[in-house]
Amino acid sequence: MKVQGQALRPLRETASRDAVVVIDQRLLPHRLAFETLATPEAVHHAIREMVVRGAPLIGATAAYGLALALKPDASDCAVEEQAEWLKAARPTAVNLAWALDRVVRHVRALPAGERAEAAWVLAAAIAEEDVEVNRRIGEHGLPLLRDIAARKGVGPGRPLHVLTHCNAGWLATVDWGTATSPIYQGHEAGLPLHVWVDETRPRNQGASLTAWELGQAGVPHTLIADNAGGHLMQHGQVDLVIVGCDRVTARGDVCNKIGTYLKALAAHDNGVPFFVAMPTSTLDLSVADGLAEIPIEERRGREVTHLAGLAASGEVIEVAIAPAGTPAANPAFDVTPARLVTALITERGVVPAEERALHALMAQTP
Ligand code: MRU
Repeated sequence: MKVQGQALRPLRETASRDAVVVIDQRLLPHRLAFETLATPEAVHHAIREMVVRGAPLIGATAAYGLALALKPDASDCAVEEQAEWLKAARPTAVNLAWALDRVVRHVRALPAGERAEAAWVLAAAIAEEDVEVNRRIGEHGLPLLRDIAARKGVGPGRPLHVLTHCNAGWLATVDWGTATSPIYQGHEAGLPLHVWVDETRPRNQGASLTAWELGQAGVPHTLIADNAGGHLMQHGQVDLVIVGCDRVTARGDVCNKIGTYLKALAAHDNGVPFFVAMPTSTLDLSVADGLAEIPIEERRGREVTHLAGLAASGEVIEVAIAPAGTPAANPAFDVTPARLVTALITERGVVPAEERALHALMAQTP
């Protein structure tokens, strides 16, 4: 996607192919700064500290991290150990394990001397595939938006109101985003759209990242407090919800950023369609019951007790919003049961959040 007219991706290789350059997403929207990751330690740190975040992006970045790790030692033992260590950087989004397992399977079939280069080439392929997957999610999602727009009488002066949570935009992927892909494609095609952007406490990915992305693309949007969505739905001001996902189970339960479940409940209560944009790399058929089986990342309580923002001085500062020493819990994801999901929008097509449909989807040749 473009930033001030220039095409930009949140992950790219250096010309010398010995490092990757990423956008430091902790600094947006106040500063567009880049970080070069030249070692596996730097990649691990960038994922853990959310310099890079979003399920597809951490998968692609980690694949490059494994390629870097194999340069000094590509023995079987090193391949396994480094992959497991990178997987532990963030536990919930399955794309991380998916990308690393894919690299491991690929290089294990090769002589040790060829493994680092082969891992790098595969990491690049994973990144490029992600772009195409997300473009196709947009292609499959756009007819759903058009259909609802037609039913709601969307036209000049009456846009289609979409609500989204967190950032499932191009910053969370290699390009296009997942939930935002139908939105960007609809906007480009002239569909009048307006996006309600959940702020997404505690880290505010909606306020800092989604609002920034949509602003750069010229998509009309309004930032709302996380608690406002239910009220807007009760008043008919939300036509549909689209969110991303970090792991979807065999029976269609959706794990995504904390707060997603509450939006799904409100959508269900108000008859608002609730769509989940899901690259098939986010489907984990080894897990059935999302509530019982998906590891939910617990992050630092400081993300809840403090806020970061731009001071009048122009500096990005952190301020406390709770009494010093207040204990805070910070589960980073929640699980929305399949029964609350209207449909999953994948690169292979739109499917119900049901076990049989998901198995059939994966049985198709991509
Ligand atoms: O903690 P984050 O910012 O990595 O969480 C991101 C989300 O929950 C996204 O909705 C999800 O990864 C899908 S990104 C296309």
